[in-house]
Amino acid sequence: TKELEGERDLEGKHLLLTAGPTIEAIDPMRYITNHSSGKMGYAIATEAVKRGAEVILVSGPTQLECPRGVKRIDVKSARDMYKAVDEHVEWADAVIKTAAVADYRPENESAHKIKKNGKELVLNLVPNPDILKSLGEKKKHQVLVGFAAETEHVVEYAKNKIQNKNLDFIVANNIAQSGAGFKGDTNIATIIKSNGEIIEYPQMTKNELGDIILDQVKTYLSEVE
Ligand code: CTP
Ligand code: CA
Repeated sequence: TKELEGERDLEGKHLLLTAGPTIEAIDPMRYITNHSSGKMGYAIATEAVKRGAEVILVSGPTQLECPRGVKRIDVKSARDMYKAVDEHVEWADAVIKTAAVADYRPENESAHKIKKNGKELVLNLVPNPDILKSLGEKKKHQVLVGFAAETEHVVEYAKNKIQNKNLDFIVANNIAQSGAGFKGDTNIATIIKSNGEIIEYPQMTKNELGDIILDQVKTYLSEVE
């Protein structure tokens, strides 16, 4: 709808988005990852460009094409993503982190393919850096938006993340619901703001939700000015 109206209401705004999963190497052939498709982040990127924003999309491995007008930076691991985000955060007016960052990585990446020997194999996992939390700690002018995919206690957990990561708002969804979550083209979201306001949305396409998220970002951007 915004496009039909030709409204370029985010003209000149700098948006830094992250999308997709991260992958954490075990050996040259194997890795740990998650089910993120990247669709939500790519949908936001697409809508933001239509509305005139400049968009940098830091993307983990996905099957998706880079939306027209978007500058994409491809990354694999959480540590790669951290570095790419850190390099562009000063530039950004808003950071929207849809990426499903792997919380843990194998402690040691084996230089060679691990051979089987019929016995148990123990993988030691160590925590990855929390990218969004570190942005929250260093936050200056940027609007900070997180995502939270949960299977229970959605609002309670989301509120904790707002506090813990110093976010302006978080977009939460219950991935146990059909019509929400990773794979499909739709989502069912709740936006929870740092001031305690909670807005529940019905099922809609990820592009429609992307537009709503950008509307919210815009209200914070105008407060900053
Ligand atoms: N996030 C991040 N870096 C991480 C983990 C998460 O930047 N290492 C970001 C995600 O991109 C998302 C938000 O933090 O925007 C919430 O991610 P989520 O996985 O829901 O929360 P966690 O803090 O990792 O807690 P948990 O997985 O235990 O629920
Ligand atoms: Ca996590």
